[in-house]
Amino acid sequence: MTDCLLEIDGLTLHRGHKKILDDVKLTLKRGETLALVGESGAGKSTIAMALMGLLDRRAVAIDGSARFNDEVDLFNLPEKEWTRLRGSRLSMVFQDAGTALNPCYTVGSQLMSVLRRKLGLGAKEARERAVELMKDVGINDAVARLSAYPHQLSGGMQQRIMVAIALGCKPDLLFADEPTSALDVTIQAQIVQLILDQTRASGASCIFVLHDLALASQACDRIVVLYAGQVMEAGDCATVLRNPLHPYTRLLKSCVLEIGVEEMTPPEGNVPAYDAMPKGCRFATRCPRALDCCATEKPALIETEGRAIACWNPE
Ligand SMILES: Nc1ncnc2c1ncn2[C@@H]1O[C@H](COP(=O)(O)OP(=O)(O)O)[C@@H](O)[C@H]1O
Ligand code: SF4
Ligand SMILES: [Mg+2]
Repeated sequence: MTDCLLEIDGLTLHRGHKKILDDVKLTLKRGETLALVGESGAGKSTIAMALMGLLDRRAVAIDGSARFNDEVDLFNLPEKEWTRLRGSRLSMVFQDAGTALNPCYTVGSQLMSVLRRKLGLGAKEARERAVELMKDVGINDAVARLSAYPHQLSGGMQQRIMVAIALGCKPDLLFADEPTSALDVTIQAQIVQLILDQTRASGASCIFVLHDLALASQACDRIVVLYAGQVMEAGDCATVLRNPLHPYTRLLKSCVLEIGVEEMTPPEGNVPAYDAMPKGCRFATRCPRALDCCATEKPALIETEGRAIACWNPE
């Protein structure tokens, strides 16, 4: 077994004639936390959904490979295998727990049903494990809360339940896709910290879609910066954010620092429409360092000593 848990290579995704992801490369080691950052519409959720097998394959065409655990190429899995992996080896915390939880069932029954189905626990064991998990995610009064319906809990509590469900089966990989954007600012940091603590304690790897670059630099081992479906820069998180070499990472960082860290406000200008992208570097229309060749010739993602940059004219 190597220490590489996930290796995505050449991930290209078309929706009709729009190329939503363009040759995305990304690797994740066991136990590593990776921050996936970029403005809204960059393709972060699409990557997560593709890796979870949640995209309608009749509506999208996926090229490239995603080797998981040295064994399988996720993009070539039959649906039966996805059902086995999802929720057990691969798990996800969605943006809005209020809509991800089923309003018709108590949170206890939703948690227990996952534990019974995925881990084969009996009713009594599942209940005991559910209570333990709820305590782990900071829910006081766990026994009483088992019989609560989602709407009877606050947004923060609902998200804690989602974390318990996602980590209950000890997945190898957790996706947390903007897990706090539906929550009050005051509890966002607590939930992020909770997810980091819990994934670390369980030894899981985590791909975290985050807007808070300061938090990413403290909490995540590596970072991948995505713009309009292309990877612009990747590497050690603290190093990349301390000294970004790609003009887009620089712009993103300066913008977030100016505005504060709660929300990633788009840097000036607009991302081109997916059906009107420059052939070369997709950032060319907004880049202060663009050269003549940038719009027509795509820079390769070149990796040197663990730092990867796709740019003809980096800092
Ligand atoms: N179901 C869908 N149908 C058509 N286009 C979509 C769909 N989901 C996402 N997109 C488009 O794909 C692009 C990437 O979206 P997304 O992955 O949600 O970005 P992010 O999570 O980085 O904000 C966007 O341009 C978005 O409009
Ligand atoms: S390749 Fe050119 S347009 Fe793209 S980021 Fe680098 S300098 Fe800017
Ligand atoms: Mg998204």
